[in-house]
Amino acid sequence: MDLTSRYFNPEMETLDRDGIRALQTERLHSTLRHCMNSGFYRKRFQESGISVEDIRTLDDLHKIPFTTKADLRDTYPFGTASVPVDKCVRLHSSSGTTGNPTVILHTQRDLDQWANAVARCLWMVGCRPSDVFQNSSGYGMFTGGLGFQYGAEKLGMLTVPAAAGNSLRQLKFIKDFGTTVLHAIPSYASRLFEVMVEQGIDPRRDTKLRTLVIGAEPHSEETRRRIEDMLGVKAYNSFGMSEMCGPGVAFECPEQNGLHIWEDYYIVEIVDPQTLEPVPDGQIGELVLTTINREAMPLLRYRTRDLTRILPGDCPCGRHHIRLDRMQGRSDDMIILKGVNIFPIQIEKILMQFPEVSSDYLITLETLADNDGMTVDVELKQMAIDDYGMLENLSKAIVRALRDEILVTPKLRLLPKGSLPQSEGKAVRVKDLRKKF
Ligand code: COA
Ligand code: AMP
Ligand code: ZN
Repeated sequence: MDLTSRYFNPEMETLDRDGIRALQTERLHSTLRHCMNSGFYRKRFQESGISVEDIRTLDDLHKIPFTTKADLRDTYPFGTASVPVDKCVRLHSSSGTTGNPTVILHTQRDLDQWANAVARCLWMVGCRPSDVFQNSSGYGMFTGGLGFQYGAEKLGMLTVPAAAGNSLRQLKFIKDFGTTVLHAIPSYASRLFEVMVEQGIDPRRDTKLRTLVIGAEPHSEETRRRIEDMLGVKAYNSFGMSEMCGPGVAFECPEQNGLHIWEDYYIVEIVDPQTLEPVPDGQIGELVLTTINREAMPLLRYRTRDLTRILPGDCPCGRHHIRLDRMQGRSDDMIILKGVNIFPIQIEKILMQFPEVSSDYLITLETLADNDGMTVDVELKQMAIDDYGMLENLSKAIVRALRDEILVTPKLRLLPKGSLPQSEGKAVRVKDLRKKF
């Protein structure tokens, strides 16, 4: 490892555009051949009347049908895999028990390549083996846990797998272990700062924090600057998703001018979410990704539902991998709360399991004392209920069922029938009042 190099993998990171296209074409061909081991993709190709030979260049990519989250759910658990399951060593799965979650399988090679991608990102923003890396992501199924863990270890840093929650303990680790690099979602970085203030800790004076890796939820440039000012650090935007392994897909370089997406791993398209046609360069649309460096479960033209655009021009850092603008939101109704992905339909399905409540409900997302939270208001079927013991038990049972489904603990308010405002037309189910800096 050349500690003086700006690059973790100089060969791949400094490929010029022609080199990237040539590599992508070669990797696309081998990915397509490999995908024919997947019953799902074989059928897809047959049904669309195309064969692998029809995809000769990158310009032919559009002939392949999109892959969607619904496809992953319909083939739950292992139907899209391109290798036998006994060749796989890990899976990650989305939350939820009311419908089929999505599952992504990994071979050992996939995990190694994923760790390399994460290490490359961290190296890019100046992390070196002498650093101490603390991860405040949830571990287990959250890919931000193990994903950063293996990447940071590959780079050679001392890692502190603190996991999510318990801010006092996070702060103790930061101080006692001399943490220099912290991975936290932006809203949690603000929460940590608030606890530091409460504890009389000055991050500049009392900690060695220098770098923050922030991601998992949309945030503005102002939020990033505020986090940098509060904590006295440089904060870099990190983008990824479980379907693409997890973190390590796209990451800002020290120029902080957009996120380089690693084109030796992914082919990028931006499409209009309605027409599904490509948008002109520089215009915002939905990010569609094809994996070209994956073994267990390659995905072709996967609709991420994330809205972004390709930034024009070259980056002074010497990397020619294109840059994505920070994510502008989603083309579906997925909520990201405390770094957890939640679909309103999951909440609705749980509520509807309780015969006492009606189908009128409202989800409110708010920031209270720098803590993001969710309140679910739901109307009772009867006009009013005066059995408070019964109400309390019902409320506890609903909260427990919701927490099991969405992995965060909401507040619940059971309201008399007719209390929620009636909206004209389509019912408003989600109100997002969270503090946006
Ligand atoms: N990361 C780390 N800690 C978080 C957090 C996050 N995204 N969101 C909340 N917390 C902290 C809270 O600050 C609180 O600690 P504190 O009171 O000591 O400050 C503690 O976790 C519990 O939070 P609370 O809101 O009371 O609990 P909940 O039951 O609603 O949420 C979590 C449970 C936090 C465990 C759950 O939201 C979670 O696992 N989030 C992390 C998801 C993640 O890692 N995503 C990254 C994917 S790359
Ligand atoms: P998960 O599969 O749980 O890792 O969640 C992935 C989703 O989180 C993405 O599809 C995005 O919607 C969101 N996400 C991840 N990173 C970022 C980021 N840096 N900025 C905005 N949204 C992000
Ligand atoms: Zn750059």
